[in-house]
Amino acid sequence: MSEVRIYRDDAPAKPERVVTDEAGIINALGAEGILFARWQAAQVLKPSDGQDEVLKAYAAPIARLRAEKGYQAADVVRMVPDAPNRAEARAKFLKEHQHAEDEVRFFVEGSGSFYLHLGQRVYQVICERGDLISVPAGTRHWFDMGPAPLFTAIRLFTNPDGWVAKFTGAEIAATFPPYGE
Ligand SMILES: [Fe+2]
Repeated sequence: MSEVRIYRDDAPAKPERVVTDEAGIINALGAEGILFARWQAAQVLKPSDGQDEVLKAYAAPIARLRAEKGYQAADVVRMVPDAPNRAEARAKFLKEHQHAEDEVRFFVEGSGSFYLHLGQRVYQVICERGDLISVPAGTRHWFDMGPAPLFTAIRLFTNPDGWVAKFTGAEIAATFPPYGE
């Protein structure tokens, strides 16, 4: 289930607060300037469906968000538990970093965990099927897909070429509970 666990950034042993209901998640993240939403597919997707079908099923909410936020491009990424590059893919964004533009993900299936370092707090946002999150440009964060990753996600970009991670050098991510272990 989708969930937000709010920790003090120096106390990763136990969250101060756990939010599991949809309205509570939207409000808790919205109060920090983080957009979270639930999207419905316009058609039922089959496991064999590719990028075009996935983008078509969510064309309406994608168009709305693009108009609202100015995102220019959308694509679909997929990760499966037996992917040969899963460890490498997991490690890529597992340390605290920032981007010069928003990190926008919609989970068509599967799940993953964002950790947002907001002031003196870390918000662990476990995203599942149907969840959209937009992490604002400049937000310190990391992402854990777990050791047996499974997700299909739509990504929205302002400039795909500009979407690179700038690592903060902080080792905070390793002090927090990993996802899926
Ligand atoms: Fe990121």
